[in-house]
Amino acid sequence: MKPQPDFIHELVPGSSSRTLLLLHGTGGNERDLIPLGRELDPNASLLSPRGKVLENGMPRFFRRLAEGVFDLEDLKSRTHELADFVSAAAQHYGFASDKLVAVGYSNGANIAASMLLLRPEVLSAAILFRAMVPLIPETKPNLSSVNVWIGAGSYDPIIPVSETKKLAEILRNAGAEVTMRYFPAGHELTPADVEAAREWVITLDD
Ligand code: MLT
Repeated sequence: MKPQPDFIHELVPGSSSRTLLLLHGTGGNERDLIPLGRELDPNASLLSPRGKVLENGMPRFFRRLAEGVFDLEDLKSRTHELADFVSAAAQHYGFASDKLVAVGYSNGANIAASMLLLRPEVLSAAILFRAMVPLIPETKPNLSSVNVWIGAGSYDPIIPVSETKKLAEILRNAGAEVTMRYFPAGHELTPADVEAAREWVITLDD
């Protein structure tokens, strides 16, 4: 059965043609990252869906079998479902689908990375806070017009630095322009991450 592109979500209109797709971490919801989105770009529209998978009552964007061990079939179908939702939302709200920047934290960063690899046409850029390698795609995507910023915590107990490096390498191999930043932090998001990502967003084309 074709997945329905319907997600509980928030849409905050902006004054520029850019839209940030905000993707929360495990246990988050569609309201969590709205202040972060505004801080990263005061003018962009914000589209913020709630992950549909529940893990002990906590929303996520795809199922996992254990921490860091993903249910790959679920991840693939959820990635397509989210990409279809984004296209449907672009039509419904009338925002430019070629100026879409994903902003994901943790589980949200992982599905954003999966979307880059499986549906490379959807995002023009992505900010990935505390991301892992979600999957290895069967065919190499063409990400030659995509910019990616990755923020890693040097002491992240969930994601070793080698894992983040591997993700950067996969994305670069597919042609993406990747900026990697390390912060003296764990898995949590820090003000230094947000400030560095904010400065990077300013450098993107309007
Ligand atoms: C995930 O499941 O996507 C990662 O383990 C990050 C997390 O949600 O804790």
